[in-house]
Formats: sequence, C-alpha cells, structure tokens
Amino acid sequence: MKGIILAGGSGSRLAPLTQAFSKQLLPIFDKPMIYYPLSVLMLAGIREVLIISTDSDKLLFHSMLGDGSNYGISIEYATQDAPNGIAEAFLIGESFIGNDPVSLILGDNIFFGYQFGDTLKDAANLSDGALIFTTIVNDPSSFGVVELCENGDVISLEEKPTSPKSNFAATGLYFYDNSVIDITKALEPSNRGELEITDVNLQYLAAKKLKAIQLGRGFAWLDTGTQEALLAAGEFVHTLEKRQGLKIACLEEIAFNNDWISSETVLKQHHKYKNSPYGEYLIQLIK
Ligand code: DAU
Repeated sequence: MKGIILAGGSGSRLAPLTQAFSKQLLPIFDKPMIYYPLSVLMLAGIREVLIISTDSDKLLFHSMLGDGSNYGISIEYATQDAPNGIAEAFLIGESFIGNDPVSLILGDNIFFGYQFGDTLKDAANLSDGALIFTTIVNDPSSFGVVELCENGDVISLEEKPTSPKSNFAATGLYFYDNSVIDITKALEPSNRGELEITDVNLQYLAAKKLKAIQLGRGFAWLDTGTQEALLAAGEFVHTLEKRQGLKIACLEEIAFNNDWISSETVLKQHHKYKNSPYGEYLIQLIK
C-alpha cells in the first residue's frame, strides 16, 4: 500500500497566515500540520509516501521532512500546479502508485481516537474496492455527506449538499485498490472545475465496492480550515499532550515503535531539536 498526502491548495481562508507558504506547514500546537496526516499513514504501516504540494512549497516540505529516512520511510515529492481537485492526486501520483493499492489523506486532516492504529492497519490490507471513514458533524453541508443504512452499508454520497441526508461526513482519509487511477482518468471535472473525490467514491458505490467505517462519538476528527478551527485543533493537542505526557503524531515515536528506526536515529533527532519540548520527548523514548 502506497500513501499520498495532498497538501496543495491556496489556503485563502487562512490569509494572511498562508501568504508565504501553505497551511499544511502551519503549526498545530508543537508540530507542523503535515505531521498529523503523515502519522496516520505511518500508523497504517505505510512506508512509501508521496507529498503533493504547490511547486514553491515542495522545497519547504523537503527541507522539513527530507527523504523520510529519519522516520524509517521513503518520501517523494510532486507538484500540483493548480487546485484542480482532490482526485487529481491519483493522476499526479500515477507512476508513484504503480500497480499497488493506495491511501490518500488530506494534509489538513487531524484524527485522534482509541485504537485508531489497529483500524488503520486493517484498512491498509485492502486490495479490492474502496474504503472511506465517516464521522458525525454538526454542519454536514460543508462536507461530503454519507447516507448509511443500519448495517453500515453506504446508501448515498453527496458533495456539500444543501439538504444533507445524514450527519455523517466523509473524512479526508481514503483507501483504494489500483483501479482508482483508471476511474479518475475517466472523470469529468465538476461544475466548480475540480476532479471530485466524491465522484471517485460514487463510482465505487455504483460497483458495490465502497465500504465505510464509522468513527464513533469517542473519536476526534478536526478541521483546520479557518483561524478558529486552527486554534481549536492546537488547543485540543495541547490539552491532551499536557494531561497524558504523551505526544500526538510524534513521527520518530511511531517509527521507533514500529522498529523502523534505531535508537541512534532517535538520539540524532533529539540533538537536532534539543532546545524544544519535542526534542526532550524524544530522549524519553530511548531511555
Ligand atoms: O475534509 C474532508 C472533506 O474534504 C470531504 O468531506 C469532502 O468530500 C472533500 O471534497 C473535501 O472537502 P473540502 O471542502 O474540505 O475540500 P477542499 O477543497 O477544502 O480541500 C481539502 C484540502 O485539500 C485542502 O487542504 C486543500 C487540499 N487540496 C484541495 C484541492 C481541491 C489540494 O491540495 N488540491 C486541490 O486541488
């Protein structure tokens, strides 16, 4: 299973924060936003990752995360010239994906919940069809809305409907078999000129190959699209980390626990960040 993080877009709703670089480089409390979606892919056991961003941000992401070896993974970088839609990730990433299944996560999505790592590892075993994750929201019209029947099967899916059929939003985390590339190639842009991820999912639904996992009430799925949401996400992470003394989305911790990096690499990262609480946290991992 390959992994793609889509981290493009103009971030115009966050201006002037996003004047010089993309929102996925902004902090969520003690680490850059992109750490959170990257941690999700790593928790799923995915070690080959493609980060798609604007051309100017590509260098910044690279200087932040390098080739991934500090986290026991490989990271490649690609450019999206314009925000032509989320599904364009499969066209940009076609050669990276090759013949494998692929997971896509939006670079501004934050997930936190009990035993999520187990859920993700199961999801990464997918070899046929598509898998999406839903969660309850109070403003479904802002999202892809999923209508589910009692046994959890998907009945319908609509992108930002004015009269939503449920309160279940499709989160920005998706797992697909390799046919997602051909499905995307056959898509027409929507009225707003984008290759819509919901249209990809509708193709899988029509083929009876779309599954949805419901992330229950005890699960946090956070948005970072507005100044308020950005602050709330940072406060959420701060509150939990302070209470537990454990970090959310510490990439070195996940890699170390997966046996992907040695204690020497953790120590090297500790030295790099030794003046910050993140750096101090790393030394505890190997003590
Ligand atoms: O967050 C989940 C929602 O994401 C889903 O419920 C929707 O079905 C899905 O369409 C999407 O809706 P958004 O309104 O959040 O999409 P938005 O256009 O804001 O893009 C989400 C992120 O993806 C954002 O950080 C920018 C990035 N993006 C978006 C587009 C369209 C790109 O990097 N390239 C793009 O072409």
